[in-house]
Amino acid sequence: VLTSHIRPQRLDDYIGQHKVKENLRIFVQAAKQRGQSLDHCLFYGPPGLGKTTLAYIIASELGVNINSTSGPVIEKAGDLAAILTNLQEGDVLFIDEIHRLHSNVEEILYPAMEDFKLDIIIGQGPAARTIKVDLQSFTLVGATTRAGLLTSPLRDRFGVIMRLEFYDEENLATIITRASRILNLKTEHAAALEIARRSRGTPRIAHRILRRVRDFADVLNNGLVDLAIAREGLLRLEIDNEGLDASDRGFLRAIIEKYEGGPVGVETLAATLSEERDTIEDVIEPYLIYKGFVKKTPRGRMATRLAYEHLHLEPRNGLTIND
Ligand code: ADE
Repeated sequence: VLTSHIRPQRLDDYIGQHKVKENLRIFVQAAKQRGQSLDHCLFYGPPGLGKTTLAYIIASELGVNINSTSGPVIEKAGDLAAILTNLQEGDVLFIDEIHRLHSNVEEILYPAMEDFKLDIIIGQGPAARTIKVDLQSFTLVGATTRAGLLTSPLRDRFGVIMRLEFYDEENLATIITRASRILNLKTEHAAALEIARRSRGTPRIAHRILRRVRDFADVLNNGLVDLAIAREGLLRLEIDNEGLDASDRGFLRAIIEKYEGGPVGVETLAATLSEERDTIEDVIEPYLIYKGFVKKTPRGRMATRLAYEHLHLEPRNGLTIND
């Protein structure tokens, strides 16, 4: 079986995100009943939760083609114009990292989204003219980590805006069991649950851990993914009991050991850890905040009591945890 099939192709195979899924089911069916293109959809949330997967599912549920690209890849207005004029009626155009579109490209998108028209400027200076070109109707599916990163004119042009949430352990275990079936892996339920518990609520991470644990199982355990080999693999991957990895712990340690538990600004932390600010805000922090290890305050990030306990650290003499 092809590994790419690990991505569900239909809404019925998509596990979790119940509200998102059931609403999408209605919107897709309504568009089909009316013979119209689906309204433009924006998905936002931390990486690895299935935004791209949903874009592909929408296209297959609608029975249309999908053209997939990414914000920073489209350099010039003409590049986007070429993509738009190549779409067939009702097609899906998926733009990942849509918050990183260049502004001259973004402006082309407004009339395209609103009226399925392309405004092309020809010539320069006083002789410049715009000509309008009709486009086929299409559905733009955009993905971004935070909706707030989009300019409001762009955000306002999406008819459907949905936030993806971290998955609970039960749904992640089901995803791991499904992936195991597709990969032809014998995975015991207890092992699936253990991996689920330690995947930061994120299917992409669950899949990655499953593949690495499979390596340990293949070499050391006759291919059987049982609880013991899952734990051994997780230990060697330095993923702890709460699913935190080395960079998560490094982030918490920096706040506690270098800034006395905070508050400390995200820019300062980025410099301290030699990480991009965006990586901290989009990749590292969301799960730590969700799990209550970190608090965001107006004056910066703070480590909570839970973070100290998890790392077996004590506040320094005379300091108290401010939570
Ligand atoms: N793989 C990644 N995300 C998934 C999901 N939500 N359901 C099923 N398989 C997945």
